[in-house]
Amino acid sequence: MNYNKKTVYDVDVKGKKVLLRCDFNVPQDKKTGEITSDKRIKAAIPTIRYLLDNGAAVIACSHLGKPVATFEGYVKKQVEKGKNEADITREEWEKSLRKLTLAPVAKHLGELLGQDVIFASDVVGEDARAKAAALKCGEIMLLENLRFEKGETKNDPVLAKKLADMAELYVSDAFGTVHRAHASTAGVAAYLPAVSGLLVAKELSVMGKALDDPKRPFVAVLGGAKVSDKINVINNLLEKADTIIIGGGMAYTFKKAQGFEVGKSLLEADRLDYAGEMIEKAAAKGVKFLLPVDNYCAAEFSADAEPILIEDDIPADLMGMDIGPKTVALFSEAVSGAGTIVWNGPMGVFEFDKFAGGTKAMAKALAESGAITIVGGGDSAAAVEKLGFADKITHISTGGGASLEFLEGKELPGVACLLDK
Ligand code: 3PG
Repeated sequence: MNYNKKTVYDVDVKGKKVLLRCDFNVPQDKKTGEITSDKRIKAAIPTIRYLLDNGAAVIACSHLGKPVATFEGYVKKQVEKGKNEADITREEWEKSLRKLTLAPVAKHLGELLGQDVIFASDVVGEDARAKAAALKCGEIMLLENLRFEKGETKNDPVLAKKLADMAELYVSDAFGTVHRAHASTAGVAAYLPAVSGLLVAKELSVMGKALDDPKRPFVAVLGGAKVSDKINVINNLLEKADTIIIGGGMAYTFKKAQGFEVGKSLLEADRLDYAGEMIEKAAAKGVKFLLPVDNYCAAEFSADAEPILIEDDIPADLMGMDIGPKTVALFSEAVSGAGTIVWNGPMGVFEFDKFAGGTKAMAKALAESGAITIVGGGDSAAAVEKLGFADKITHISTGGGASLEFLEGKELPGVACLLDK
């Protein structure tokens, strides 16, 4: 995929109305609605500042959560969840939408920028269009949640055109959504000159370089629950990496493919052949393929379960929950001499304190490696932050699904639509 794309530095923004796609899909407290991490809002600030300081008027937009844009769609979804159709009311649907308003984001963004952020109560309706028309250079407004429009996720050209009509230039700075072909992430580029913002440019250049021209040895650390989620990542990285380290729940399918017993651990029986083929392919290519040699196991999947250290075969009544000390030593040794390390997916059930040790040890090993370290994926990024190693990592991607698809080598619609350099 070509990710050498024009950025805001390559176009004249002075006096222009700029439609800026951000990823303000921030976590919120379920009860109070309070924003619990403003990392994604802060990540958008450099581009916003650049545009405002260089004489643009910024029409920012984003999605938040997964609202259902129509009452009919909401009813269908609730019925699928087991609710009685007769009990579902319009009030309840409207309440679900109100919970996902971007108004608190506009307020918080204003505080971070130190200037007023005008908020439009709709996406392409009267309020948005009037406010966009009146917007002056150096001013910023935020549209209401893009997914309140049913055309957004369908990449409806009518919606894309309406968004485009408010502006003269499109800037994509929502790295977290570049894997989505939606009206605001891809469709709109058919109607406006489209360039990347500084966050997208940085994500593409750091991760692009790691994949295409890595400082070697290039080590990929892959974890997470399922092999099936990482098949394309493993396929792609087998062509590029010198060492692949596998931890997390998906390691047990590989161990089983090697002939070990894995007890009650996560196992994808339908991926056993694939796992075996990958191990053989790695050997044929001379790629080191490291799997856990010991595991902390438990009798049940619980935060209170007592960790039991097991080497090799896991007994039938236990399940693997984290990597053990010998594995930590093996994996740490492999990353210590690396030039570039890409990490995606935790090594164990890190949300349970008793089983967070392996993930914590890997975060520490990366932090101390001296290598170019890139952490992609929502869970591994959260782990590195939770465990306090964030400032020792070269780059923590703001994309979850997006960074995974990037590592898969897939074409990302939100990048492909931008102007080439
Ligand atoms: C994310 O949180 O990964 C992005 O904002 C994309 O969100 P989505 O999965 O709802 O498209």
